[in-house]
Parts: sequence; structure tokens; C-alpha cells
Amino acid sequence: MSCMNLDHATRPAPKATIAWGMGLAMLVSAAFAITILFFVGLWRAEAAGRDQIQRGKYLVTLGLCTDCHTPGYFFGKPDASRFLGGSEVGFEIPGLGVFHGPNLTPDKDTGLGQWSADDIVKAIQTGARPDGRVLAPIMPWHAFAQLTGEDAQAVAAFLKSLPAVANKVPGPFGPADTPSSFVFKVVAPTPPPTQ
Ligand code: HEC
Repeated sequence: MSCMNLDHATRPAPKATIAWGMGLAMLVSAAFAITILFFVGLWRAEAAGRDQIQRGKYLVTLGLCTDCHTPGYFFGKPDASRFLGGSEVGFEIPGLGVFHGPNLTPDKDTGLGQWSADDIVKAIQTGARPDGRVLAPIMPWHAFAQLTGEDAQAVAAFLKSLPAVANKVPGPFGPADTPSSFVFKVVAPTPPPTQ
């Protein structure tokens, strides 16, 4: 009888222990699975980011951004150490002024360091800068408006991944200003052609 009593008294304990043990094992496996998923997610996000930057690099190369936005390019010696750091040569647009391809690197004071990726996308696809000024059409934003949203974001991601270069380009100069820099201009022949 006393034996039976003892059995009754001890039986619930192992059950509870097994239940606790199983619960704990499930919790540990769930935590383990969540950790693995978290790291796989991180790895995939990082790989996707790398792919996006590579795509941006490809588009920037084809979009000739380098030509108009890298020092030295128009002198036949693009300065690789200041890649996309802004051109010292401005384009004269008759009646509009002289415009230099600005510094596209993430430098906070002289480049795009204060611009978000969306600001960059908006500028290259609509010509609108964050301050509202519309870029001169020598910057081919009318053509870049044709990029898909995904490709435009890839261009922005690549620009954001560049090393920052401190270089403030001159201008922009208005039509009445005298530019203090090198200028590309369209020169009319003398005498002017009859049309
Ligand atoms: C034919 C020359 C030319 C090419 C090619 C060109 N740009 Fe530009 N870009 C300019 C000029 C000039 C300006 C400045 C226009 C102005 O101030 O109104 C400019 C302005 C910009 C701006 C605004 C920056 C600022 O500080 O206001 C961004 C962003 C930009 N370009 C990105 C690009 C990208 C990205 C590419 C390539 C996909 C590219 N540009 C190709 C000439 C060019």
C-alpha cells in the first residue's frame, strides 16, 4: 500500500520532466533554426547587394558617366584615383550657361554624400535635384529616364559604394556669367552659314 502511494506520489514528476525536456529541446531547435535562417538571410541580402552594385557598375560604364564626371577625361588622361570625382571641363549651352559634370562620389561636402539613393534616382531619371533645380540637358537624364527602376537603383547603389573624393566642380555659371574654368563650346563659323 505504502509502495502504491509512493508510486502515485512520484509518477507525475518524470512526466513533467519529460515534458519540460521536450519543450526545452523544441525551443533550442527553434532558436537554432531561426539563427541559421537569420544568417542565411544576411548572406543572401549581402550577395544581392553585391549583385546590385555590379549591375550599377556595368550601367555606369555603358552610360558614359565616367566621361563627363571624371577629372582629366577631356584632356585624354582620366584620373582613376578621382574616379567620378567631377570634371574640370564645363559644357556651354548657349543661352543657358556653363555646366560641369559634378562630383558623384559620396563626399559629404562636395559630392553626393547628403543625397539618398532615391534622390540620385530622381535626378538621373527626371533631372530634378533635391533643391528643385532641373539639370541642364547636357546631362542625358532624358535618356536615363528610360532605365527601369531597378537599374536606376543599381546605378545609385554603385555611386554610393565609391570611395569619397573631395572635389568641388566650378559653377554652374548663368548665361551672363564669365566662367572661370575650361569650357566646351559650340563655335559658329565666320561668316555664319545661310540657312
Ligand atoms: C555628356 C555628359 C554627361 C554624361 C554622359 C553624364 N552626365 Fe551627369 N551631369 C552632367 C552635367 C554637365 C551635369 C550638371 C548639370 C547641371 O548642373 O545642370 C550632370 C549632373 C548629374 C547629376 C546631378 C549631380 C549634382 O550634384 O547636381 C547626377 C546625379 C548625374 N549627373 C549622374 C550621372 C550618371 C549616373 C551618369 C551615367 C549613367 C551621368 N550623369 C552621365 C554631364 C553628364
